[in-house]
Amino acid sequence: MGEQRARDVRAGFTELYGSEPEGVWSAPGRVNLIGEHTDYNDGFVMPFALPHRTLAAVSRRADGVLRLHSADVEGPVAELALSDLAPGTDRAWTAYPAGVVWALREAGHPVTGADIHLASTVPAGAGLSSSAALEVVVALALNDLYELGLQRWQLARLCQRAENVYVGAPTGIMDQTASACCEEGHALFLDTRDLSQRQIPFDLAAEGLRLLVVDTRVQHAHSDGEYGKRRAGCEKGAALLGLDALRDVAYDGLDEALERLGNDQEVRRLVRHVVTEDERVERTVALLESGDPRAIGPVLTEGHVSLRDDFRISCPELDLVVQAALGAGALGARMTGGGFGGSAIVLAEATDTDAITKAVEEAFAAAGFAAPRVFEAVPAAGARRVE
Ligand code: GLA
Repeated sequence: MGEQRARDVRAGFTELYGSEPEGVWSAPGRVNLIGEHTDYNDGFVMPFALPHRTLAAVSRRADGVLRLHSADVEGPVAELALSDLAPGTDRAWTAYPAGVVWALREAGHPVTGADIHLASTVPAGAGLSSSAALEVVVALALNDLYELGLQRWQLARLCQRAENVYVGAPTGIMDQTASACCEEGHALFLDTRDLSQRQIPFDLAAEGLRLLVVDTRVQHAHSDGEYGKRRAGCEKGAALLGLDALRDVAYDGLDEALERLGNDQEVRRLVRHVVTEDERVERTVALLESGDPRAIGPVLTEGHVSLRDDFRISCPELDLVVQAALGAGALGARMTGGGFGGSAIVLAEATDTDAITKAVEEAFAAAGFAAPRVFEAVPAAGARRVE
């Protein structure tokens, strides 16, 4: 299947631009197992890559022109002059790949243009990092073609800069690092302070378990204010405590920190979420490493409650997935990603997943919500060159 898609994107490129591409690259979307809204607080996250991928057929150009086309978007080839690329000027999907080219050039890398044709199976707006996949596939292709010699974590940082500054979405570093650095069969335990990482074996099938992703089909966007407000609230909390980041609040010093925050209930709730969530990531890693994957179920559910009640970024559809899945016997469930819509994950015995899927679908129908999309997530490989 992957090979056929690579051939299709190569053929699409040739038809559009009249020559063969120099190569084809691929980068995945991700789900986050645990560690939500911790990345811009210098904390811990634990995403893994999805089999859903964005492919890019790419050739260099020497004339300062960037041409972009996507098989998934109606419309002609976009043609941009590199000298015109400027943050905040593009509101379309092209801002993501153009932002990466801008970020590379801003950092002094000699990128002189490119022809790019893309095709993706990462659902957009579903909280599964379609934008990171798009950024990372372009960054990796240009890194290879222009022989820039950048490491994966450096590409992730440049992609984050593209998203923060060029696109204008104040996101953290998790999604880009996941797309660039994940490995098949593993979840990525990432310390977002220094990007140190550990690949944690995560083979649920071998344990008779499955992880479902439930896309609620409620679209979300991080450039609209709520994500930024949470981030600003966390930064305010750190400043009030005299710390660089909430990562520096020790879990067993949480009560004392909350006391010092006084009466600002909102900041207190945000701080409580971040500090407890970091602890949940560490607990999840310990449980997986001690060979007890079933025990992470309740930790996932605790994470959902914290995101719903303290961080306040869930929505009725996400809450209903969690409630219906747990009611039908799931070991644990929680929203995943930035929130306000998107997807939830459900951990369950393999033998229970059909009944759980049915229960979630029925609950959605009864509530009058659009039918969710449910699929099993198996940890896939990170970004790579495919041709
Ligand atoms: C989005 C952002 C990430 C991270 C998550 C929440 O996916 O892009 O950086 O903050 O939300 O954990």
